Amino acid sequence: MWSDEWFEFQVPGKIICGEKCVDTVGLEIDKKGGKRALIVTDKQVKKAGLVDLVKKGMTSGKSQIAGVFDQVEPDSEIEIVQRCYELAYKNEADCIISVGGGSTIDTAKAVAILMVEGGHILDHQCAVYMPRAPMPVHVAIPTTAGTGAESSFSAVILDKEQKLKLTYPSPELAPSVALLDPYMIRTLPPQLTASTGICALTHCIEALHSQFRKPFCDSLAIHGIRLIYRYLPVAFQEPTNLESRRYTLIAANMGGIVLANTAGGLIHALANAVGGRFGVPHGVAKAILLPLGMEFNIEKYPDKVGKSYRLIAEALGIDTRGDSDVTAGKKAIEYLRNFISGLQLPESLSKTGVKKVDIAGAAEDAMRDRLMLNNSEAPELQELLGILEKAF
Ligand SMILES: [Fe+2]
Repeated sequence: MWSDEWFEFQVPGKIICGEKCVDTVGLEIDKKGGKRALIVTDKQVKKAGLVDLVKKGMTSGKSQIAGVFDQVEPDSEIEIVQRCYELAYKNEADCIISVGGGSTIDTAKAVAILMVEGGHILDHQCAVYMPRAPMPVHVAIPTTAGTGAESSFSAVILDKEQKLKLTYPSPELAPSVALLDPYMIRTLPPQLTASTGICALTHCIEALHSQFRKPFCDSLAIHGIRLIYRYLPVAFQEPTNLESRRYTLIAANMGGIVLANTAGGLIHALANAVGGRFGVPHGVAKAILLPLGMEFNIEKYPDKVGKSYRLIAEALGIDTRGDSDVTAGKKAIEYLRNFISGLQLPESLSKTGVKKVDIAGAAEDAMRDRLMLNNSEAPELQELLGILEKAF
């Protein structure tokens, strides 16, 4: 267990935030030395006209567009990564601009690995990826405020055959520049706004019950929670409110940085498992599992998570005067349940089409997920099964 007395905190690349900051993308590529940029995106983002805004932003610099790969899907998988790399190779791209949600940005990170190493992405699985040459310049432009992938250090790629999400972790995978432009997320529909926002909230909360907790992460996580609690409902109700969009993007970015430095916990591992096995979207899975995971932690490890959960309660504006840490934490969990249901997200796995008889495999997958080890303390398989059963 790390402590305030001994820890590491790694910062990602440059972060630029502001309305229409995407106009500077060409300039940023030039400053980093990129020459031919492959734009990586998905069909919806392209259809919404956001790739056109990036192309316009490229005129602020001298670098060229090497091509547009628009085939990314919600859970990016190995085959998509390989196809995207083939286009990058064929068109002689030396840098990447990812425009999209976490799946798109993670695809670009995996393609960056292949631009250095070549071959197949399965050949490069390892505990920590160490590139043998400098990584290509990567400018990430998020079109959701959720994963914080634009500043996180890992790529998560679906292995469809094994029904598993593979994680490629390394600080080297953090994009060189993150452009947080509220204008780029103003058309995100309310349901996606809600689920991706809960994804960011979970990253902040897991940072506070991670065994890799540290003061820099605490400060980002607590402020991230405050911003989500204040601005996510506004973004959900008024999608074109750019102030709320800006603050949700900032919170999601903070969540990405703390996730990169504290590496998640049991909620993330369970969400990966139900996502990999049953296709439940990441944010939806977290919305269902967040209160249950916190409840488990505070009941099983009150001494370890009590103080952190009091901080969460305070960030949510709950009056905790006179409460024990555990009572304050339980108040936070109840508050979060109401907050999540106010965002009209599914409250149980049965509402997502998952069958209770199938969950044993998901518990095993979660147990094998290395993120589980970062929880305050790693639970037993039976306990994970118990959490999943309560999710019905
Ligand atoms: Fe996540």
